[in-house]
Amino acid sequence: MAIERTLSIIKPDAIKRNLTNAINTAIANSDLHIIAQKRIRMTKEQANIFYDSHKDRPFFDELVDFMISSPVVVQVLEGESAISVYRNLMGDTNPARAADGTIRKIFAKSIGENSVHGSDSAVAARVEIAQFFSDKEIVGCLRQHLE
Ligand code: CMP
Repeated sequence: MAIERTLSIIKPDAIKRNLTNAINTAIANSDLHIIAQKRIRMTKEQANIFYDSHKDRPFFDELVDFMISSPVVVQVLEGESAISVYRNLMGDTNPARAADGTIRKIFAKSIGENSVHGSDSAVAARVEIAQFFSDKEIVGCLRQHLE
C-alpha cells in the first residue's frame, strides 16, 4: 500500500444544496486528508478538457453544461490508497446502485447529478490534479510539510 493523491470535485448539485462540509466530513472520516481545495467556476473549455475521454458519449453535452451550471469545489485528497479509498467512499456512479453509506447513495440525485467526482487511476489523478492545481498550491501530509 502506498500514499496516493486523487482529484475530487464536489459537483454543482451538491454545491447548490450546501453539502461541501458534509462531504468533507465523510472524507475526513475515511482517513483522507484534503491537502488542497478551492471553489471555482469551471469554464466550458476546462470542462471539455476534463471530460475529453467521454466526448463521444451521448451525455457529453449534458455533462459539460451541468459542470459549468454553478461553482464547484476542486480538491486534492491524500492518504493510503487514496484513489480506491475515495472511489469506495463515493460509491457507484449511479446512485441507485451505490452501496449504503456512500456519498452518492446518501446525497446524489441521479447518474448525471451524482455529487462528486474522483480520479479512476493513478495516471488520471496526476493529469486531473495538474489541470486545476500548481505544485505550490498543494501542501501534503508528508513529514516535510508538517514540521
Ligand atoms: P464522473 O465520475 O464525474 O465521470 C463521468 C461522469 O459522467 C460521471 O461521473 C457521471 O456524472 C456522468 N455520466 C455517466 N453516465 C451518465 C449517463 N448515462 N447520463 C448522464 N451522465 C452520465
